[in-house]
Amino acid sequence: MLCKKGCDILHKLVINGGKRISGEIKLQGAKNSALPIMAATVLADGQTVIKNCPELTDIYAASRILTHLGCKVSRCENGTIIVSNSGIEKDSISEKLMREMRSSIIFLGALLGRCGSCSLYFPGGCQLGPRPVDIHISALRKMGIVISEEHGKINCTAPNGIKGAKIMLEFPSVGATENIILAAVKAEGETEIKNAAREPEIHDLVSYLVKCGAKIECTSGSTIKICGVDRLYGCEHQVIPDRIAAATYLAAAAITDGAVCISGISSLDVSSFTGYFEQMGCSVCTCNDSIYLKARNRILPIKSLKTMPYPGFATDLQSIMMSVLCMADGTSVFEENIFESRYKHVDALNMMGADIKVYGKIAVVEGVKKLYGANVEATDLRGGAAMTISALAAEGTSEITCINHIDRGYEKIDSVLASLGADIKRKPETR
Ligand code: EPZ
Repeated sequence: MLCKKGCDILHKLVINGGKRISGEIKLQGAKNSALPIMAATVLADGQTVIKNCPELTDIYAASRILTHLGCKVSRCENGTIIVSNSGIEKDSISEKLMREMRSSIIFLGALLGRCGSCSLYFPGGCQLGPRPVDIHISALRKMGIVISEEHGKINCTAPNGIKGAKIMLEFPSVGATENIILAAVKAEGETEIKNAAREPEIHDLVSYLVKCGAKIECTSGSTIKICGVDRLYGCEHQVIPDRIAAATYLAAAAITDGAVCISGISSLDVSSFTGYFEQMGCSVCTCNDSIYLKARNRILPIKSLKTMPYPGFATDLQSIMMSVLCMADGTSVFEENIFESRYKHVDALNMMGADIKVYGKIAVVEGVKKLYGANVEATDLRGGAAMTISALAAEGTSEITCINHIDRGYEKIDSVLASLGADIKRKPETR
């Protein structure tokens, strides 16, 4: 994984478990909003000011792509990123830049919308099983875009221009919805996306584009209508708070019998995840722009957690909730319906003393009274976060390596948890 400057640095987290997580933190901005908004700046002439942009390795990767395309990107101390776009110089992205993260695929729609053509490679990112882009490609083809694939490279042209189209998604893919919106905002005519993804991060992207001058209407729950315009202009936009990071820090308090107050959630729909903590027996209260959670001494199990597209139970929360339910007073059952290989964290949790059995899409978690520190390797972003949470409650010391995965999505997770009372240190990984 690459740092700010694009060089390899390996770190590990060393956690002495058993400390209660309590205190107050301010929430980071949402990675999954900030990244598509950064890609969308390709379409907007002039300057875009993105506030509340988290400091993450994926954000640095997006900055490198924008710089490569001819934009000037600067970051201020207060989490604001300024992108100056006085004309895109290239419509291609190298394999190296594309492979740094999954979200690089969103530059497909952005470049098409800006240049009417592009050539780029299949993206990198967390290995959660097959992550095809067939839904993106078949939708873009409906818009008059000619797409060929060879040796991992995607070449796109639109000989007769990009045309609005009626598109019915077979699955509400987040990335495909974003790519179609970006390709459609400056296309000729109207595009209608049915069965579009409804995640709050999609609405944040739409809200940024509308401020830039785009004509987009999110009608009934899952239909989005886009009417192409000639030009978009940069604007100022504040990224929404990160709902998955919020749930992660609540989980840290829940598993350590702690209490945490998270501020900065004013535009966050917390109802999509607070119910699960209440089912575990925690007290949860939201007021003004804060959410407060107080743990229950022994966690209650949850009989059934099935991951579904938004507003269902988020796949990104599956590992996080599992790490807490490892210590519940009874059996919890998970069903992972979004990604094929999203139980990679299970072996590590079992090494810490959890009792989890996986049967295909199903994971059965028998609660245990104690977890024990262990040396484990982060397998992916949310899997690594789950190991961190379990380590906070485990007896003894855990070392979590390959935390480059965690750094893709959590801004300074070690400092945040240390500020809440955790005994956690980031150390160079020696191999
Ligand atoms: C986004 O990934 C998020 N990433 C993921 O966040 C999140 O887990 C996922 O949505 C689901 O909510 C970003 O926003 C950067 P999808 P994305 O296209 O867009 C299948 C995190 O931890 N599919 O909605 O890649 C696909 O294989 C992460 O922050 C196709 O079959 O997700 C998967 O099974 C990781 N063909 C399902 O749909 C396609 O063309 C959902 O994928 C596209 C997707």
